[in-house]
Amino acid sequence: MNKLSTTWQCPSNIAIVKYWGKKGFQLPANPSVSFTLSECTTTTTLRAYEHPGLRKPEAQVYLDGEYHEAFSQRVTGYLQELSANNRWLKEFDFEIETSNNFPHGAGIASSASAYGALALCLTTLEWENNPPENRSVEAFYRRASFLARIGSGSASRSVYGGWTLWGKTTALPHSDDRFAVQISETAVHPVFRNLRDSIILVSDETKKVSSSAGHNLMNGHPYASLRYRRAADNTQRLLEILQTGDWDAFSSLCEAEALDLHGLMMSSQPPYILLKPASLEWIERIRQAILNEHLPLAFTLDAGPNIHLIYPADASKQVSQWLNNQTISQPDQKIIHDRLGSGPVKKL
Ligand code: DP6
Repeated sequence: MNKLSTTWQCPSNIAIVKYWGKKGFQLPANPSVSFTLSECTTTTTLRAYEHPGLRKPEAQVYLDGEYHEAFSQRVTGYLQELSANNRWLKEFDFEIETSNNFPHGAGIASSASAYGALALCLTTLEWENNPPENRSVEAFYRRASFLARIGSGSASRSVYGGWTLWGKTTALPHSDDRFAVQISETAVHPVFRNLRDSIILVSDETKKVSSSAGHNLMNGHPYASLRYRRAADNTQRLLEILQTGDWDAFSSLCEAEALDLHGLMMSSQPPYILLKPASLEWIERIRQAILNEHLPLAFTLDAGPNIHLIYPADASKQVSQWLNNQTISQPDQKIIHDRLGSGPVKKL
């Protein structure tokens, strides 16, 4: 019996223009733009065991060394879905060992790094088993992004380092709804190449509403078409900002996108609120620091209450002083310090 095995480490990412709403088969209703993190990662080993005859693949998932029934079911469903168009998967069963180096429920999208790592492993095995005609590095990551997207949309962006865009936009000719593409470093001003993201953990409660349920609520949402237009415009605008290096414009766009996302949740049917009073307190403090202390700060939110505080690396000292002052009365405030990273790493 042949056994194939590979290991990848893949980071999470933080979206500045948000993906919120789907169309067709796991395609985005609007383009989104993110940067990949460096420290918050998932490491996954995929072992494929060949079996005789063709049948749907099964997966056993071990999270931090322990068998995980719910993840095994979810990943089995994912692989079975893929196997409809990827016959090679029907020749194998899979064992997956996975671990995240960031706390569960920290509001960091673990599905992005998890499906990113899994898709990179799958692409590696696929290319060993069935080498495609085009074996370029670009084709490898495009394929991994395509497979990651089917598991979780935001994961499509995690297979690249730096800035990434997923979804068709006229502003980037090679962009595509089926996979994400990297935004060339030459199109990114130095101020946006070396960013910090300090994640202020306002709450470690697990999400009340899954992202999938949230995306679903965009179907029939009264503001959906306006939102999709705005996100498309913001994508175009962000690409310009990344090029020119206009920090203030970046900061305003980050805030507008973060608040749009939460506004959409509050105006969906049923409505829901993921922000906590402490999220709003932090937003107010950040706004004051921008206005009164002229700190180069920006913030964004994922589908949760935690605040991603974004700033250029060369302002780290000032910002860390400011953060210390903010937390004097809350010494147990948890903050995860991350930064823009260079992307996934093949371990084995
Ligand atoms: C708010 O990628 O988690 O983080 O495709 O259903 O897995 P699924 O959704 P998911 O949605 C992420 C939404 C977001 C914004 C973003 O990352 O663009």
